Amino acid sequence: MICLTTSEQTLTSALKQVERNKEYIDIVELRLDLLEERELASAQIFPRLCGLPTIATFRRVSDGGASKLNDKTRISILRSIVLKGDFSYVDIEDDVKKSDLKVKEDDKDVRNDFEAELRAKGIKIIRSYHDFEKVPAELFSKVTKLAKKGDIPKIAVTPNTIVDVVTIFRIQQELKDIKEKIIVAMGPYGVCTRILYKKIGSMLTFASENEEAPGQLTPKALKILYRADQVNAKTNIYGIIGNPVLHTDSPKIHNPGFDSIHYNAIYVPFLVDKVRTFFKLAELIQIHGFSVTVPHKRDVLPYLGKITREVQQIGACNTITRIQGMWKGINTDYYGFLVPIEEEIANEHIKSALVIGAGGAARAVVWALRNHHVKVTIVNRTKEKAIHLSSETMSNWDLLENVSNYSGKVDLIVQTTIVGMNESLGVNPVPTLEFNGNEYVYDLIYKPENTAFLDKAKAAGCKTYNGKRMLIEQGKLQFEAFTGYHYPHWVNLEL
Ligand code: ATR
Repeated sequence: MICLTTSEQTLTSALKQVERNKEYIDIVELRLDLLEERELASAQIFPRLCGLPTIATFRRVSDGGASKLNDKTRISILRSIVLKGDFSYVDIEDDVKKSDLKVKEDDKDVRNDFEAELRAKGIKIIRSYHDFEKVPAELFSKVTKLAKKGDIPKIAVTPNTIVDVVTIFRIQQELKDIKEKIIVAMGPYGVCTRILYKKIGSMLTFASENEEAPGQLTPKALKILYRADQVNAKTNIYGIIGNPVLHTDSPKIHNPGFDSIHYNAIYVPFLVDKVRTFFKLAELIQIHGFSVTVPHKRDVLPYLGKITREVQQIGACNTITRIQGMWKGINTDYYGFLVPIEEEIANEHIKSALVIGAGGAARAVVWALRNHHVKVTIVNRTKEKAIHLSSETMSNWDLLENVSNYSGKVDLIVQTTIVGMNESLGVNPVPTLEFNGNEYVYDLIYKPENTAFLDKAKAAGCKTYNGKRMLIEQGKLQFEAFTGYHYPHWVNLEL
């Protein structure tokens, strides 16, 4: 089930929030602690009005909520709401004292056993445990202990490394017998487990409209982009590893591609600090193939049983597939870069090129051009890096400050530095370079699609290509490597 956690302060706006997301969700968690105090008096009507199974949660500050009430008062209010409404579940933290669960009503002398009342009404108790700092060493015994009373154990923990993520994926193997359980891994490392919630044996995954918080996924992303609720034992898992990784657009290429050829597969971002541990995870959950992004494109090489000539030359791999029991590495950046210009190279409109930059991205570009007999000059800010790449690839080199000397002298200009994005948005790394309008001009930056560098080239009448095109082309080639099928042309990519 995909569960929307409400984040609104009034019942009316919480109901609107449910309405906005209704087609993507199966269940709602009403966060009573986020509601204004005066709303609590009528909160019992929420499940009936929203029309979906509802979890009542009244979270205290120490567990990441907003309620500052003491447990006695908080549980007493929770009881008065839950027993009057049609809630399906109620969340009670595992350390609430027995005595606080024996609720005394104002005008009466008897103490009511809240848990017994819930069971009598058929409302299931979710027994929750939170750890905002780590994944506790005794994770498996904690889940077992919480499940003992027949309630649904809920463990919300915080992985800080990919090793913790491996521990979380082992829960399902270790605790198969506990059928109904909720496992939540918070923060950016937890994202892969929130998407693959069925693989960790969690009965539901939480979604929120608040995309800003790290590790949050929207109901729409879980349902439409990832089809997380469709994952089953036969689903092939693919993904991307990187650090950071959550910003990448690759899931928006591969998931719709899988969907449109009816291939039972999912593509998930994995935040990875240690490549070695990720390969262990890949075995544990039988990952079929994955993309590799910064900073792991070199680190993966020792784990590959087979690599292509381009991977060997560039010294970097961005795509890994499982072939005959071993990992094979290819580099689709190399081919993705070439796709838009290969015809111009073949018909010799492009015979010479100026490559700006000598970093990781430049390596793939220079090797691709050189292997296709284009004469390359590398210009870079730092001399040593320019010399290094040029001697490896038998190219020419020069300092970035001399770039104006190449105005009108080359067929193709490729911008591979990071200047023009993020903090340097709107900055042209080579303002002294002039175009005569006959050049082919390529900028590898894809956000923004139009950089100051490309704008200048366009204004001069040059034919231009941006990094988005390259991203899409390399993604399509990865898709072929993963599935054996061409990328379906009818997918309308929304990047
Ligand atoms: P990537 O893998 O994206 O290519 P990288 O390996 O860090 O990233 O390489 C970044 C490239 O951008 C380098 O060529 C770098 O030049 P230096 O070798 O002199 O560092 C270039 N670069 C980064 N910031 C730059 C700037 N402000 N001006 C000019 N070049 C810059």
